[in-house]
Amino acid sequence: MPEPFLSPAGDRHFDGLADKFAASLYGGLRGELRLALLDRLLPEMLDLHGQPALEVGGGLGQLAGWLAERGHDVTLCEPAAEMRERAREALAGRPVRFVEAPLQALTEAAPGPWPLITCHAVLEWLGDPRAALATLAGLLAPGGQLSLMVFNRDALRLSNVVKGNLEKALADRLEGKGQRKRLTPISPLTHDQIVTWAAELGLEVHATAGVRVFHDYLRQPPQTEAERRDLLALEWQYCRIDPHWRLGRYLLYTLIRPEEPVR
Ligand SMILES: C[S@@+](CC[C@H](N)C(=O)[O-])C[C@H]1O[C@@H](n2cnc3c(N)ncnc32)[C@H](O)[C@@H]1O
Repeated sequence: MPEPFLSPAGDRHFDGLADKFAASLYGGLRGELRLALLDRLLPEMLDLHGQPALEVGGGLGQLAGWLAERGHDVTLCEPAAEMRERAREALAGRPVRFVEAPLQALTEAAPGPWPLITCHAVLEWLGDPRAALATLAGLLAPGGQLSLMVFNRDALRLSNVVKGNLEKALADRLEGKGQRKRLTPISPLTHDQIVTWAAELGLEVHATAGVRVFHDYLRQPPQTEAERRDLLALEWQYCRIDPHWRLGRYLLYTLIRPEEPVR
């Protein structure tokens, strides 16, 4: 029997979580940093030229809006009605098409093939993230780019230790159960998993970055506007630098499906 909060596929759709998610992430500095970093990173890590984009697990619609502003026709897939309705409101008047189906149904609901797919902070909420990555790989056109962002299991361990949750870290009991309104992902992922799965699926890792490499380990949040600016400057300076990017709260990848060889 699946948990009552999980879909039949074992995924945590965000029905019942929209308010908490909007407030706890996008209502504060964590969300502000994420959006500011993505705003700079995505044009560096992707070749963007207004191609049609499939935004998977689009949540409240921020990334769909960002892409639409840059001239992309966006198809936003989001299975949680509550999130979809908020995104619809936020994106009114923009060239965004909505698909109600979950990622697993996209092969029929939005087969593409797509030159650009974005899937940010979704895989860690799925029962079978590897199967989901295989589905996304199958939707990519030859030469197509997948912007993938995942919640980093290694960063979760470190932040638990920093907070004093030593027993939990020692037992490696890091993932959430997807119950009630908890926002700890059920399938946090490691860099090794993504690299291994990408190779198995024939995807090339073209670029990597860490999103929030410092913020989540701070003992004290920035107190002034100047400190917030300095923190953003630090995050930006080190988000693609070894070893810091590897401990970003999120790992951001550009994965490419190679062109088919000319016969
Ligand atoms: C943490 S939120 C991320 C939202 C957005 N991508 C962002 O970065 O702000 C995870 C989203 O994935 C959605 N989701 C969960 N299971 C899914 C599935 N099987 N297919 C597509 N989206 C799913 C949830 O409903 C939720 O909106």
